[in-house]
Amino acid sequence: MDIDVKKSAPVGVFDSGVGGLTVAREIMRHLPNENIVYFGDTARVPYGSKSKDNIIRYSRQIIHFLKTKGVKAIVIACNTASALALDVVREESDIPIIGVVEPGARAALETTKTRKIGVIGTEGTIRSAMYEKIIQGIDPEATVIGKACPLFVPLVEEGFAKHRVTQEIIDYYLASFLETDIDSLILGCTHYPLLRSRIREYVGEKITLVNPAYETAMDLKQLLKARGIENMDTRQEHAAYSFYVSDAADKFKQFANSILPYDIETTKQINIEEY
Ligand code: DGL
Repeated sequence: MDIDVKKSAPVGVFDSGVGGLTVAREIMRHLPNENIVYFGDTARVPYGSKSKDNIIRYSRQIIHFLKTKGVKAIVIACNTASALALDVVREESDIPIIGVVEPGARAALETTKTRKIGVIGTEGTIRSAMYEKIIQGIDPEATVIGKACPLFVPLVEEGFAKHRVTQEIIDYYLASFLETDIDSLILGCTHYPLLRSRIREYVGEKITLVNPAYETAMDLKQLLKARGIENMDTRQEHAAYSFYVSDAADKFKQFANSILPYDIETTKQINIEEY
């Protein structure tokens, strides 16, 4: 393939739904030349309660779909899929694939002083203990306390981030962390950065919140540079972004426009089971 074509090829980003937009947002901010094809699996969300086999199957289908769009690299912008499927799909792929768990684990280790780290995520992510494995693979002395917070996802999706009932649920899930001496808390689910200010208010100054999204964008930047496939074309006002979902395109579009720096015009619905 012509090298210029390859450089301007989009980056594929996928998630179980809208959560991965928090990662896409960081890529848009820090890699402004990169074109993006985003896929949100809104028909099959949540991934957090699904089996590993299903998450691998879903991820394979999405990667297949993104490849039909000519992507040059893929970001799994979903903690659950990164924890349960990345190793398998990366092995099978002829283009680079990165996830959010490893960058998040590294960011937490850079943040912590006590080497005691909390991680919150879906049931699948916490059960996989992937954050713990990666953190302790780098620093065997580090302690990791994980907690699944499954209700955070629907609260965000239903627009309850600022609602008072959210306070009670934050208290229900996070109270036990206040009795520990963790000094860093990984927001190990792509929806949780949208509750960031509420969580910060609750846990206070002594605990730093770690959002893997920024670190993931930095990893992507490094990867594209190392392979010589960064898009250097600065002629366009901003890069081209396209959005695909497996259901409820209008709801997705509304949500995306509330959190992204640019309004998106169209979101196309596709049948992901065909891939
Ligand atoms: N995007 C998923 C994650 O980061 C959370 C939502 C879900 O359960 O599908 O783990």
